[in-house]
Parts: sequence; structure tokens; C-alpha cells
Amino acid sequence: MTDASAAVTALLQRSNRLGSDPRNTNYAGGNASAKATGTDPVTREPVELMWVKGSGGDLGTLTEAGLAVLRLDRLRALTAVYPGVEREDEMVAAFDYCLHGKGGAAPSIDTAMHGLVDAAHVDHLHPDSGIALATAADGEALAKACFGERVVWVPWRRPGFQLGLDIAQVKREHPEAIGVILGGHGITAWGATSDECEARSRQIISAAREFIEREGRPEPFGPVISGYEPLPELERRVRAATLAPVIRGLASADRSQVGHFNDSDVVLDFLAREKHSALAALGTSCPDHFLRTKVRPLVLDLPASAPLSEMAARLRELHAAYRDEYQAYYRRYADAASPSMRGADPAIVLVPGVGMFSFGADAATARVAGEYYLNAITAMAGAEAVSTYAPIPESEKFRIEYWELEEAKLRRRPAPKPLATRVALVTGGGSGIGRATAARLAAEGACVVVADRDGESASAVAASLGSADTAVAVTADVTDEAAVARALQEAALAFGGVDLVVNNAGLSIPGPLLEATTGDWDRQHAVMPRGSFLVSREAARVMIDQQMGGDIIYIASKNSVVAGPANLAYGAAKADQAHQVRLLAAELGEYGIRVNGINPDGVVRGSGIFAGGWGAQRAAAYGVPEDELGAFYAQRTLLKREVLPEHVAAAVFAITTDLPLTTGLHIPVDAGVAAAFLR
Ligand SMILES: NC(=O)c1ccc[n+]([C@@H]2O[C@H](COP(=O)([O-])OP(=O)(O)OC[C@H]3O[C@@H](n4cnc5c(N)ncnc54)[C@H](O)[C@@H]3O)[C@@H](O)[C@H]2O)c1
Ligand SMILES: [Zn+2]
Repeated sequence: MTDASAAVTALLQRSNRLGSDPRNTNYAGGNASAKATGTDPVTREPVELMWVKGSGGDLGTLTEAGLAVLRLDRLRALTAVYPGVEREDEMVAAFDYCLHGKGGAAPSIDTAMHGLVDAAHVDHLHPDSGIALATAADGEALAKACFGERVVWVPWRRPGFQLGLDIAQVKREHPEAIGVILGGHGITAWGATSDECEARSRQIISAAREFIEREGRPEPFGPVISGYEPLPELERRVRAATLAPVIRGLASADRSQVGHFNDSDVVLDFLAREKHSALAALGTSCPDHFLRTKVRPLVLDLPASAPLSEMAARLRELHAAYRDEYQAYYRRYADAASPSMRGADPAIVLVPGVGMFSFGADAATARVAGEYYLNAITAMAGAEAVSTYAPIPESEKFRIEYWELEEAKLRRRPAPKPLATRVALVTGGGSGIGRATAARLAAEGACVVVADRDGESASAVAASLGSADTAVAVTADVTDEAAVARALQEAALAFGGVDLVVNNAGLSIPGPLLEATTGDWDRQHAVMPRGSFLVSREAARVMIDQQMGGDIIYIASKNSVVAGPANLAYGAAKADQAHQVRLLAAELGEYGIRVNGINPDGVVRGSGIFAGGWGAQRAAAYGVPEDELGAFYAQRTLLKREVLPEHVAAAVFAITTDLPLTTGLHIPVDAGVAAAFLR
């Protein structure tokens, strides 16, 4: 055995190399291990250890913290107490008693396979090409034709202790073998050194791919069906954005979901071809795939050019049927010990000519579910090219989906954040109050669309909040009707729809009446009342299609009720916005859409409005130096506190979470201004 730290370094480097190419394994799929001699800190004696990727991690980004560390003598001693396949799950609980020290990450179900196979390095991967052979009806014969005696076929067996014993036995009985194809599932390879193991994994993956390319028939999914070809890109994306809220609403019948859209060539080509619906109905096979994609997707059975209303109506019918079938599937296999049903909605919805909508409890999970289905399509293509696609039986899928060990994994997940699954769109999100609101909503778990006329500032704010799974930017001038429609479309394509819209974009052009121009009047009215009307109208369309309720929040102003000096157009525009709140609350209540407003005052810090001349003007109007304006406003308040953008953001958060029965309200965030009391 090699030096422990060298073995761990080699293991991490190999894992990262293999895991960074999706052809080698799907995201977070598979695991790799290394065995080496360490020192027992108690006895100072040498001790044989194994490092293996822990539960839930991803090979491509694996670090030492993601490794479980186990004592091999104890792990292998489990074979003496193993009670047989019926009780193999008990062995997983016993892994905790095989840990070295604190043991690192939680050991995964595949730990036994790595420990029991007698090789210093082991890789277990889910490559599309390997799964293609593993799910071919005559996979065993094909594996022989492809690899000869060097790679051995192991029939489907659920991951666990027995599978580990099976593979260990194959290795003992086939000294010439470099690895195995695991029926219905993936591959495992081993080597005496890390390099040898990696080379063998790559050899199996590429040999399977080349075999399929060489031996496979063209057009494995059959000919293109007329009318099911991909729509031209622009038309496709507009159609996708229009359908997305309808589909997200359906996929959220049991619990609210975030959506992701994928219209890659692989998806569109699959959906255009004759066999797509029969193959989709067979469902995915690799456990990693169907745990994320559900047993099977929902497929719309209409041509791409069908009228949108017909598509929406048919999707509703198919969704009802999907739920019935899923419930029947649960009832077919569940017994008294099974965890209760987790929800009957689809995770993948396929629309020919348009693309794939995937769903999850957050944007990353939704995106990854789609990536898994892409892997599954490629695997099905390979299996159909050389044979017939034959996934594992449905009863086995149920056993894994409702396996107590999977349930335990779900229970270990941290509690969702208050705004998890909610999609927010903030206009004027590039600065001041909008920026603070976008940041607060993202911190509370929402997916955020930062919309601003100033695209650069919107992009900077979105990037500061995290990856595209947290926030995206759109350049949109709220005075432009088409741009507003596009912004809502972007939200639908990025996250499936929208639940929380903050009408925040605004500007102020102060001045006394006699100096006010019609241009200044029109501009302020175009951005604030007209802009928020346009945004509310497009948002309400999406929310009504989703049937998931929603929040529309107006950042109005103290000036909507208080007659401040030299401020006619701004104050009138804000009063218009304030009345929109009441009018829309009355009109949209029947859809569960709540409309509320916030009346801030004197938010100087971070505000572009104050920096851009308004501050100087206000300071002059009140007769104080400009840099003391925030302090001046604070002294004017009942609480003598300065109002910050974060205070306004907190009010947005409070309305959308803790005030579910409130609509048509304005909340002052002004540190107490008696003149602005509402009555
Ligand atoms: N700052 C305050 O004291 C205060 C008080 C009451 C109300 N408000 C309101 O709060 C909102 C935000 O103000 P702020 O102080 O953060 O200002 P800010 O200038 O810092 O931010 C406003 C943002 O809106 C964007 N914007 C302007 N016109 C737009 C358009 N046509 N389309 C899209 N985006 C546009 C700007 O680019 C900017 O990023 C405004 O509606 C304002 O009237 C502010
Ligand atoms: Zn696996």
C-alpha cells in the first residue's frame, strides 16, 4: 500500500478529471476510492484505510472534505456478520462503526463495493455509453462482443452490500478483468494504481462508445415525424416562455417547484423522432437518473405548431393522467413499511419542437434533473442503436425511489429557506432599494430576476448574488411594453415563471411647478405609473397561468400621501401607483394574487435618485448641506432613525412571508412621519 497522503491526492485528482467530463459520469453520480496504509494515532501501528467519495458529493468538484475515511479491517469484517441480501441495509448503519477518527463525509451506499473489491483503486461511474450497453436488452452478449473477457457483465442488482460481494467475486474469478458492466446501472473499474484505474475506466467508456458508433444503426430513435421538428429558435423560445408558467403550475400541484428550460439539440432531436413517446414511457434506468427525473417524464402528444390554447388544455389532461398513473404505481408496490408518497407531479415535461421543462425544489435541482434526462436520452440512443432499450423493472425503481435509505437522505437535507421555490422579479434592481431587495430575497432562498434599464448594473447585482441558479439579469426599460413582456419571458425561461414582482423602478425630477416641463412630467409618469402598470399586467398574466397565487409589491412613497414641496409630477406619479395597489388588490384577489405597497421616505444612502441631483435639490429645499440630508431626515422622524435600503427590503420580505392574508395595504418605512400616517 502506498503512502496515505499521496493516495488521497491521486484519488482527488483522478476524481476531478473523470467527473469534469459529463460523458464519464452524470453530475454527482458515481464514486471513486483509494486504499492505503495510515497510522493509527492511538497505537502508532500501521492501519489499512480507505478513502471514498461520501454520500451526495460530486466527483468533478470533490475535495478531501467530501471523502469518507474507513478502516478496511473493520469494513471487511462485516462479511462475517452479513445476514444476507434481505437485510443488507443494516450494513449501512454498521459503516458508522468502521469509520477512522471522525470519518469525514457520510459513507454512501456504494461504500461496500469499494471496500470489498480487492484493489487499491476503484471507480464506479455512470457513463452514457456504459449505461447504453447496461440497458440494452442483450447487454450481456454485447458486453462480450465489445470487451471480450476483460469486462464482465454483472446482472442488475440494487446498489448495496450484496452488489459489493458480487463484484468482489467477479474480480477474484476473473484475474484478467479490468472492470464490470453493471446491468441497468453503470460501470465499475479497478487498478493497482490510481493511473491504472483511471485508464481502465476511460478504456471501458471509450470502447463502449466506439462499439456503439461502429456497430450501431443510424437514426436509433427512428425517422422524424412531420410536424414534430424543432421550431425556429425565436418562435421556440417565445412558445416555451408562454407555456412555462402553465407547466410550472401543473408540476407544482403537490408542492411548489422551480423550473428550468432546456432546448438543446439532443432534446429537440429526440422529441422530433418516431420512437420518443414509447421510449419516454419506459422511463430512465440508472438509479441516479430516475431519482431526479421521476420514473418517467410527461410528454405532450401534439405537434409543435398546435395552437397554444390546445397545448395548455392537453397538458392539463395529461397531467391529471400522469398523477393517476403515479398514484397507481405507488399503490402497486408500496407496503406498510414504505415511506408515504412524495408527490405525484412530473419532474420532466417534454414538448416536441419546443424543448424540455425540468423541475426541482430549487433552481440547481431543476437544472440538474434536466441534465440527467439528457444523459438518459444519450443512453437510450446508444441502447437503441445496438439493441433494444430495456431499463430495470418498475418494481425495482419503486424499491429504490422509496428505499428507507433514500428517505433518510432526504430527511438529512437542511430545512428550506423561507422563500425557497419562489421566483422574484425586481424592476430597477440595479441600484438602491431595488438592489437591497434583490439581495434580501436571494438570501431568503428566492430565485431572482434583476431587471433594470441599466443592463450593466443589473448584471453586476445579479453576479454579486451568486450563479445563474440564484439570480439572472435582464435589461428592460419598464416604459417599453415589448421589453417588459420580454423580461417576464426571461423569468419564465430561467426559473419557470414568476411569483413575486417588485415594482421598484423609479426616478425623480424635482422642481417648482412653474419650471416643470411636460417632458419631465411625461417621463416620470411613463416610468412609475405606466411602467408599473405594464409590469403588473404581464406578471398577472404569468401568475394567472401558473395558478399559484403571487405577490405584486409597489415601492410607492411617503410622497404618495404627503404633499412635499416642489415635487408635483413625482408625488402625483406615486399617488397613481398607490391607487394601482388598491385597484389591483381588488381585481386580482380571486387569483390569490396579493398587491401591496411600501411607502419609504428619506432613503439617501445607496440611492441613485438622491445622488443624481434630487439630494442636492431636497437639501436646498430644506436648507441643509447635502451630505447631512440623511441625518436631517432622521431628525425629522418620530424614531430619529435613518432609513436604509435594507429596511425597505425587509418590509418586502415581511409582506411576502408573514402577512399572507394582507392585500391592498401600504406599509410606511419612514422611521415615523406623522404627516404620512395612513387613515
Ligand atoms: N430613496 C428614497 O428615499 C425613496 C423614497 C420613497 C420611494 N422611493 C422609490 O423607491 C424606488 C427606488 O428608488 P432608489 O432610491 O433606490 O433609486 P435608484 O436611482 O438608486 O434606483 C432606481 C433604479 O431604477 C432604474 N430605472 C430607472 N428608470 C427605469 C426604467 N424606465 N426601467 C427600468 N429601470 C429603471 C435605475 O436604473 C435604477 O437602477 C423608486 O421607485 C423611488 O421612487 C425611494
Ligand atoms: Zn451507481
